[in-house]
Amino acid sequence: MKILEVRNLKVYYFLHRGIVKAVDGVSFSVEEGEILGIAGESGSGKSTLAHSILRLIKPPGEIVEGEIIFQGKDLTKLSEDEMREIRGRDISMVFQDPNTYLNPIMKVGLQVAEVYEAHQNAKIETVLDKVVNLFKKVKITDPEKRIYSYPHELSGGMKQRALISMAVALKPKLIILDEPTSALDVTIQLEIVNLLKEMKEELNASMIFISHDLELLSEITDKLMIMYAGKVVEYGSTKEVFNNPKHPYTEALINSIKYIRKDTLPTIEGEPPSLINPPNGCRFHPRCPKKFDICDKTEPSLITIDGRKVSCHLYGEEE
Ligand SMILES: Nc1ncnc2c1ncn2[C@@H]1O[C@H](COP(=O)(O)OP(=O)(O)O)[C@@H](O)[C@H]1O
Ligand SMILES: [Mg+2]
Repeated sequence: MKILEVRNLKVYYFLHRGIVKAVDGVSFSVEEGEILGIAGESGSGKSTLAHSILRLIKPPGEIVEGEIIFQGKDLTKLSEDEMREIRGRDISMVFQDPNTYLNPIMKVGLQVAEVYEAHQNAKIETVLDKVVNLFKKVKITDPEKRIYSYPHELSGGMKQRALISMAVALKPKLIILDEPTSALDVTIQLEIVNLLKEMKEELNASMIFISHDLELLSEITDKLMIMYAGKVVEYGSTKEVFNNPKHPYTEALINSIKYIRKDTLPTIEGEPPSLINPPNGCRFHPRCPKKFDICDKTEPSLITIDGRKVSCHLYGEEE
């Protein structure tokens, strides 16, 4: 069963210097209990995509086209009130930098308790024991004391655990993680990833896990979607995409992690293109080692080949 289906989503930022087509016709779906990984260089539109699913895009950004079907409803059509009900309860999100999403002058336990207050009309004092249990679950030490700590009294890893506890509090069906470990030390990263896997099993939730760390994604995700300049270039089962990449960009990403230390971004020769004036034809053609005559003229469409989808002129549609 599909829990989420995104169809031809376009999300643009309307700036004075032009229109940034950050997400430009993206389609994919997430099955119940599945982890979908999304990878791609910085600026490829991953966060914009994640924020659009929860309708968190603010002006000058706007969802200009497409559908986001969640449990049969098109989220792009819901009112702000209806959306607020879904956020946190049915779909929750964990962001890269916990500091942006924690209120510095409010005790962390109370911030987590607010989730129950917002969705279940519960008084904060009556749910503190639930928060203590959640903190235990996400392995925050000394939870009875920690609920009264302010964010600055916690380490980065502990803050992210507190946000994860907030994200799982109401047992959502879908959890979106936007580079949840990128701001943390490598050892803490592993602990958090293991925690997320545990949470996923326990809740039987689906996850969208965004990361530039392809190796990490290859270990924990079922499907993998590679984005380049606002478009999906390859999308399929993680094993197949990782072991036998078809798109030259996917191939370059995978090759680059073999040579580069894990905590740095993989680098590929050349610059990511402008999303205001993207290259004609295939957006990757200026950097592509395999480009040929039509690549700078015609845009490739996403076709199915070898059990995955790929948008590259090297391949023709299967019969
Ligand atoms: N609030 C914003 N206003 C204008 N442009 C934005 C905004 N947020 C993101 N962008 C632009 O949208 C593109 C995609 O960004 P983003 O979704 O953050 O990519 P990623 O998460 O893959 O790094 C980039 O060109 C970025 O500069
Ligand atoms: Mg991002």
